Parts: sequence; structure tokens; C-alpha cells
Amino acid sequence: MIGEGVITELNRNSANYSKVVEDVVRIEKKIFPKHESLSKSFDDELRKKNGGLVYAYVDGEVAGYAMYSWPSSLFALITKLAVKEKYRRQGYGEALLRAAILKCQCRKIQRISLHVDPSRTPAVDLYKKLGFKIDSLVAKYYSADRDAYSMYLELSNSE
Ligand SMILES: CC(C)(COP(=O)(O)OP(=O)(O)OC[C@H]1O[C@@H](n2cnc3c(N)ncnc32)[C@H](O)[C@@H]1OP(=O)(O)O)[C@@H](O)C(=O)NCCC(=O)NCCS
Repeated sequence: MIGEGVITELNRNSANYSKVVEDVVRIEKKIFPKHESLSKSFDDELRKKNGGLVYAYVDGEVAGYAMYSWPSSLFALITKLAVKEKYRRQGYGEALLRAAILKCQCRKIQRISLHVDPSRTPAVDLYKKLGFKIDSLVAKYYSADRDAYSMYLELSNSE
């Protein structure tokens, strides 16, 4: 269960589009190192037709977001997941990840993949909780001294 707040899919035509992107970019800059941050290219990312973003809106601000894309009709990527520090451990990360998975499930995607720094224990634990498995360790994925787990989730699409 999440606290106050709703999970919404970002729509380019919605009245609060700019405000949501502003909030997301601010969170992105605070949480992720420059080379891992999408803050400069968010608008470009969001223009792509084969992708989307869900966000949690609490007390008039974005509390967290998950970004995903589907390079093919069978395969999707979770490209970002973040919750602002003051909203952590209240269920928003899990709700966002579940919402992103559901969006992929609706598109009949069969496999969702992602990369995550193994030192991001809360994220790794959350991915495992929702059924993601570790595929491999990709050496130097983020930088010379930062590796990544490649993780995946098989979807049954039985619903
Ligand atoms: C990972 C992150 C999104 C989790 O968000 P959150 O809203 O705090 O997570 P939730 O409250 O929904 O917790 C859901 C599950 O995540 C895991 N988790 C969350 N915080 C955790 C922590 N501090 N330690 C261990 N596991 C944790 C647990 O499995 C938890 O389930 P539980 O409550 O049954 O134990 C958040 O910590 C974050 O933004 N981290 C920085 C950005 C990041 O690492 N992103 C992923 C890489 S792209």
C-alpha cells in the first residue's frame, strides 16, 4: 500500500506536463551521477513513441517516477526508477515498478530487462521482490569502476 498520492502515466497533452518534467529532472539531478542521468535528454526520451513514464504525485509534487521503453514488440526496458528521499519506504517505488510492469504487460511484452548498480541495494531488493532475476554482472557498465547487474523479468501475459 502506498500512502497519500496517485500513480499516473505522463501524457504530453496534460496540463501539468512541464511541471512534472521539471520535478522529474530535479529529482534525477539529485539522485543520479551526471553520466547516469537522463536530465538533459528527458524531453527527447519522452518524445519517443515506444516509451513512457509513470509518476507518483503527492502533495503537489512528483514523489517518484519510473521510465520504460519497448525497443521491440516483445521486449521492454526499465530505464529509470527513482523516489525522492523524503518519500522512500512508503511503497511508492514498488507501486511505480508495478505500474511500469503492467504497462508492458498490456502491450504483450514477454521480457523486461534493466541494468542496476549492485551497490543500489534498495533497488536490487525491490526488483527481486517483484520477480526480476539476475542475468549477469556487466563489468564497467556505468564507468571504469562501476559495474551493473543485468536483470530480467519474464512475463506470462496470462491475464
Ligand atoms: C529503489 C527505490 C526506488 C525504492 O523506492 P521506495 O519507495 O523507497 O521503495 P518501497 O517503499 O516501495 O519498497 C519496496 C521494496 O523495495 C525494497 N527496499 C526499499 N528500500 C529498501 C532499503 N532501504 N533496503 C532494502 N530494501 C529496500 C524492499 O524489497 C521493499 O519491500 P518491503 O517493504 O516489503 O521490504 C529508492 O530507494 C530510490 O529512489 N533509490 C535511488 C535510485 C535508484 O537506485 N534507482 C534504481 C536504479 S535506476
